[in-house]
Amino acid sequence: MDNKGPYNAMITSVGHYVPDRVIDNRYFEQYLDTSDEWIRTRTGISERRRLDKSKPTSFMAIKAIEKLLQNRGIGIEEIDLIIVASVTPDMIYPSTACIIQKEMGAVNAWGFDLLAACSGFIFSLTTAMQFIQAGSHRKIIVVGADKMSAITNFEDRNTCILFGDAAGAVLLEPTEDKSIGIIDAIMKIDGEGGKYLHQLGGGSLNPATHETVDKRMHFVYQEGKNVFKDAVKGMADVSYEIMKKNNLTGEQISYLVPHQANMRIISACAERMGLSEDKVMINIHRYGNTTSATIPTCISEYWHAGKVKKDDYLVLSSFGAGYTWGSILVKWAY
Ligand code: UT7
Repeated sequence: MDNKGPYNAMITSVGHYVPDRVIDNRYFEQYLDTSDEWIRTRTGISERRRLDKSKPTSFMAIKAIEKLLQNRGIGIEEIDLIIVASVTPDMIYPSTACIIQKEMGAVNAWGFDLLAACSGFIFSLTTAMQFIQAGSHRKIIVVGADKMSAITNFEDRNTCILFGDAAGAVLLEPTEDKSIGIIDAIMKIDGEGGKYLHQLGGGSLNPATHETVDKRMHFVYQEGKNVFKDAVKGMADVSYEIMKKNNLTGEQISYLVPHQANMRIISACAERMGLSEDKVMINIHRYGNTTSATIPTCISEYWHAGKVKKDDYLVLSSFGAGYTWGSILVKWAY
């Protein structure tokens, strides 16, 4: 995406939160026809986190944002805009952004929720980038947060072993140095993929009724094999595209930050880009697929571990329901 504005947008702080409760693969062995071995070899997941039933998505988002503010040494009143990526908002409306704004006392911020499923974080980051590049906003929080346990059918072995709960947040600020921060973004959608991955109940097409609940329409539905095939191609192609478009080689990339849906998809993507495994951010084994939260939790964990350095090139890539997919190239700024 061409930047015609006066600024580049750079990430200046990161934070994340995962609930304490760990659900390992053996938990599912106790009541489903599945095994730790199947789950690990087919997905790469060993365990995931589950948020307390009584707590909403905003609880995790706020914890992630608090860490981000602490790291940057600023107060919430400095924030201009809050964008929340989620498929599990606290409720249909008001937006989770409004709930966070009130709970945190973000008196100078406006905000909204953005729904792009597993690509929600990168779509939100691309949206936030525009406000920074144009010079109209100076501090934007983008938070990816999902309580997937709220929309998971724990009787369906095809999906329940995949998902976890988490939140990750980044702060975006302007820089006049056009050589750092977010360098490029390529975003795509294809509604043809909707039939393979969706949640049919609860919207205006199928409002909640006893029937929609009985038919399990308020849970994630996925035809895994089809999504797998399309995800491998979509994510690998767009990651390669952004690298080539910006005249970079695999050697110049410090990290691929992939959406964490399946270790085999991640490996295929890294291979296409010519990256060794140590250049791929991974936390799928500990958290599973946390939808909007996978990419920002990875970045936050690696940054806090001292593994991300100034001038590192990061390629953030995702593929998810919609279909939605894309890549963002970042030159790390701090
Ligand atoms: O995040 C948004 C985008 N989502 C994705 O990118 C997910 C993409 N899809 C996947 O990651 C994989 O397709 C899954 C992990 C969901 C499934 O792996 P798979 O290798 O594609 O398995 P499959 O769906 O082809 O199923 C193979 C077999 C089936 O049995 P039959 O029909 O061959 O007898 C399934 O019923 O594995 C069976 N199976 C299981 N077996 C043990 C499915 N789930 C399980 C399970 N434990 N939990």
